[in-house]
Amino acid sequence: MNREEQIRLENIADTEHEIFALLKQRYSPRIFEEKMISEKDLNRLFEAVRWSASSFNRQPWRFIYAKKGEDGYTSILECLTDGNKKWADNAPLLMITLFKEDNDEGEKNFYALHDLGLSLGNMTIQAQYMGIGLHHMAGIDQEKAQKMFEVSDGFKVASALALGYYGGNIEALPEDLKKREVAERKRKRIDQFAFHGKWKN
Ligand SMILES: Cc1cc2nc3c(=O)[nH]c(=O)nc-3n(C[C@H](O)[C@H](O)[C@H](O)COP(=O)(O)O)c2cc1C
Repeated sequence: MNREEQIRLENIADTEHEIFALLKQRYSPRIFEEKMISEKDLNRLFEAVRWSASSFNRQPWRFIYAKKGEDGYTSILECLTDGNKKWADNAPLLMITLFKEDNDEGEKNFYALHDLGLSLGNMTIQAQYMGIGLHHMAGIDQEKAQKMFEVSDGFKVASALALGYYGGNIEALPEDLKKREVAERKRKRIDQFAFHGKWKN
């Protein structure tokens, strides 16, 4: 087993209750295999998005994606925060996620961002099933991306994604990020966020 395979094993969630294996195995990698995601696999990711639940089936999610070597890829990279720029170009594919702000009747769709998130959940687990690691990023200058990609009025950039098949070389990361790639994964306890019958502070 090589170092990167060892890291993937060590990153498997130490759950208190048994859950679906793909959920346990998922984490947010900063290194990826140097191999482009195939068109077939890309379509499978978007197919998983298509079948997400959404309020009134409004499907408010949108995506702009670009492959390494394409101008769009460089543009997405330029919109990322410095922290994300340190590792995101290890990914063969970058995406921007967007949502449609209003419903077709012209009212604000309160659930648009919720539903984009839900679709990203589907994409993330589908990706995991295909051996693709997916790293969500809030660290993007949304306004810059909005202008750079001439996004139509009524649509908002939410986040960015870095995707690639799990693999790559840990040595591609600076020292601080190497540590984070192998750091212990921690979570709140269930009783800190799930309350039976009444609110708890
Ligand atoms: C909406 C969202 C925004 C995030 N933004 C960033 C980011 O800008 N940079 C980054 O390195 N990680 C980012 N992450 C990854 C989280 O830090 C990561 O999911 C969290 O630390 C838990 O680690 P895990 O995904 O490996 O379980 C983001 C995750 C989400 C869901």
